[in-house]
Amino acid sequence: MPATFLESDRLWYRAPEKSDVPFLTSALLDPRVRRNLLVGRYPFSEAGEEKWIERHAQPPAVDGVTDVVMVFGPKGSEQPLGSTGLHRISMLHRSAEWGIFIGRPEEWGKGYGREVARGMLRYGFDTLNLHRIHLRVNADNERGIKAYRAAGFIDEGRQREASYVEGKYVDLVLMAVLRHEWRKSVVEQPSR
Ligand SMILES: CC(C)(COP(=O)(O)OP(=O)(O)OC[C@H]1O[C@@H](n2cnc3c(N)ncnc32)[C@H](O)[C@@H]1OP(=O)(O)O)[C@@H](O)C(=O)NCCC(=O)NCCS
Repeated sequence: MPATFLESDRLWYRAPEKSDVPFLTSALLDPRVRRNLLVGRYPFSEAGEEKWIERHAQPPAVDGVTDVVMVFGPKGSEQPLGSTGLHRISMLHRSAEWGIFIGRPEEWGKGYGREVARGMLRYGFDTLNLHRIHLRVNADNERGIKAYRAAGFIDEGRQREASYVEGKYVDLVLMAVLRHEWRKSVVEQPSR
């Protein structure tokens, strides 16, 4: 197992490394993976991914942090499975937007999405002292919506036709968890 920053039941998490560039690039070039990603509308290159990793390599100034990104993978293997991050972290509002992709479609539907969601909620609330973690997901991304609900995210609303995907507009579903809701669910279901 590689040196890790966080762990959950089946997964490790660490900062992205240069060695992740080929995996991240090929994952983000796969139309099945990038279809539901905001960043997936533009061509990816290894050079671009390397720059992205360099930007996130330095620990952020304690009060100036805006993004924390990690690569995760299954325990027992060094190969990454995907990437996740808390973005636009607001020190004032104690809030952040969570994002994820699992770069190997054959691994979808095995519960990894909800496990990462739970891991990042724990990190966001217990380590970064956030109050609210929110996300936006295309309304036709049923797999994602089910995984996020299972992890404790609550539907907050819908932005009609806010996302343009493969030639048509789809609604964006807005979901979030507040710290006290998460705390209650963790106390009631300690496996979270
Ligand atoms: C979205 C994503 C993170 C979800 O992770 P995952 O590991 O596949 O999700 P999980 O296995 O935890 O949960 C998937 C749920 O959807 C269900 N599901 C599986 N295949 C499905 C399908 N084709 N249609 C609808 N639901 C499906 C599963 O049964 C499960 O629900 P259940 O527990 O109620 O049975 C992952 O699929 C992914 O990375 N997709 C590509 C990128 C992306 O969409 N990122 C998110 C942008 S918001």
